[in-house]
Amino acid sequence: MNYRHSFHAGNFADIVKHALVLWLLEQRQAAGPVTVLDTHAGGGLYDLAGDAVRSREAEAGIERLMASENRPPLIEALAAAVNETNPDGGGRFYPGSPLLVVRRLRRGDRYVGFELHPPVLALLGEVLEPFAGAEARGGDGYDQVTVEAAANPGSFVLIDPPFEQPDDYHRAADTASAIVRADPTATVAVWTPMKDMETFDGFLRRLEQGGAGRALVAEARLRPLTNPMKMNGCALVVLNPPAGAEAAASEVCGWVTDRLGEAGARAEVWTTD
Ligand SMILES: C[S@@+](CC[C@H](N)C(=O)[O-])C[C@H]1O[C@@H](n2cnc3c(N)ncnc32)[C@H](O)[C@@H]1O
Repeated sequence: MNYRHSFHAGNFADIVKHALVLWLLEQRQAAGPVTVLDTHAGGGLYDLAGDAVRSREAEAGIERLMASENRPPLIEALAAAVNETNPDGGGRFYPGSPLLVVRRLRRGDRYVGFELHPPVLALLGEVLEPFAGAEARGGDGYDQVTVEAAANPGSFVLIDPPFEQPDDYHRAADTASAIVRADPTATVAVWTPMKDMETFDGFLRRLEQGGAGRALVAEARLRPLTNPMKMNGCALVVLNPPAGAEAAASEVCGWVTDRLGEAGARAEVWTTD
């Protein structure tokens, strides 16, 4: 295991993903009780005084967000969640997708987070322990989520792999399309890095070939995609996006690229046919 999310927690990509996850969850809850399935849950809570200091990614991301003024509503909602994570003030702790979601569970809602690596699973278990309706499950999230989604119609699924395995793009696309083929009422959000256009286009083509149907593509490009060795941006691809998703994604990706981007940064929000 090489990937450790603690190096990346609170970076620009977490901001895009987490601000939109909070919004998507709210939309889904407005339609009734929901089951949230998080295929790659991670540890749930990050201490930014640890690995993140060395990477400086949180410094360029959530720390700038927390220091900024006139934040639009969906960015403000994430700032509020960070404040909730630091009741004594400051911004040392950053919530991962599990904690962001479980704090908002209502009666009848459920959360299942899958985590492959036992030490990370143990951390996740501790974070989820106080929350009714929340469960940490070990093992491969791709393998388990399709069955779980089929058993919980209308679920909201987050697929957020580390992309350290060569087949992560294929498995993420195939899992997402299998879920919506089996349950056209499920909403599936897949996070991907953006390094070069060829890889990203290949991922979108694979979704289409898998019968994923219409997808909202929310891209935040921090710089032009000229160096394929770097994470130049990220995208959240949402299958069965709820009404208003395009405006929500424009708000989030626009803020991130305007405030955190370099020269040539831009947000692209569009819908596949
Ligand atoms: C990007 S992090 C998840 C971050 C989390 N979703 C969040 O937003 O806070 C990816 C996590 O997936 C775990 N992982 C890697 N391969 C996995 C697999 N096949 N199934 C489940 N978890 C996996 C890694 O150990 C890591 O903790």
